Amino acid sequence: MSKKLLIVNGSPRKNGVDAAIAKLIAERVKEHGFETEIVNICEMKIGGCRACMACKKTGRCAQDDDMTQMYEKIRSSDMLILASPIYFGAETGQMKCFIDRFYAMVKMQDGQRLVNFGNVSKASILLTCGAPDGGMTYGGILARLTKTVKSMGVPDLSGTIIAGVQPDQVAENDNVKDYLDSLDFQLGF
Ligand SMILES: Cc1cc2nc3c(=O)[nH]c(=O)nc-3n(C[C@H](O)[C@H](O)[C@H](O)COP(=O)(O)O)c2cc1C
Repeated sequence: MSKKLLIVNGSPRKNGVDAAIAKLIAERVKEHGFETEIVNICEMKIGGCRACMACKKTGRCAQDDDMTQMYEKIRSSDMLILASPIYFGAETGQMKCFIDRFYAMVKMQDGQRLVNFGNVSKASILLTCGAPDGGMTYGGILARLTKTVKSMGVPDLSGTIIAGVQPDQVAENDNVKDYLDSLDFQLGF
């Protein structure tokens, strides 16, 4: 059975930089038998966590929105890539809402934090930004998001910041090429 890569795009721009890089990733991993699904969460209804704590009692989020299908998509994936442009020094609001909803996949039992993130054993964070020096400026955001995904029990993590690139430039950009190579390495190709 082919392995599954889920790319969650937090950009509202369907033909933006993140979308262009996501396509390149999908083409690359296909050569190695990976099946990729790219999901544009900005086209979905995913509300913020309401802190109602229902999930702590039932194991399920009480909100019946598009996150319901995303829980299934995450859990059935071997690798997860979270892609987001930087908006005012952070990931987009839509991506933040999506990540906050991971809370329903965490439960506390006898003082232990138990996470049900399904099959995901590898993850990567892809950030893009307009500022050419964004690789330096937003390193802290990359570190924070990497730590968040690590806290979901994912052992094998990578990430990058692609700065100052337009959608039609991504295929020729050296940092994008390096990132694609690093994903090959992470996936053991
Ligand atoms: C509302 C908004 C806020 C932004 N804030 C920043 C920022 O703080 N720093 C930065 O370097 N670029 C910023 N940008 C630029 C985007 O991060 C950059 O163009 C990104 O690559 C767009 O990705 P996309 O085409 O996938 O949407 C901002 C863009 C928008 C629309």
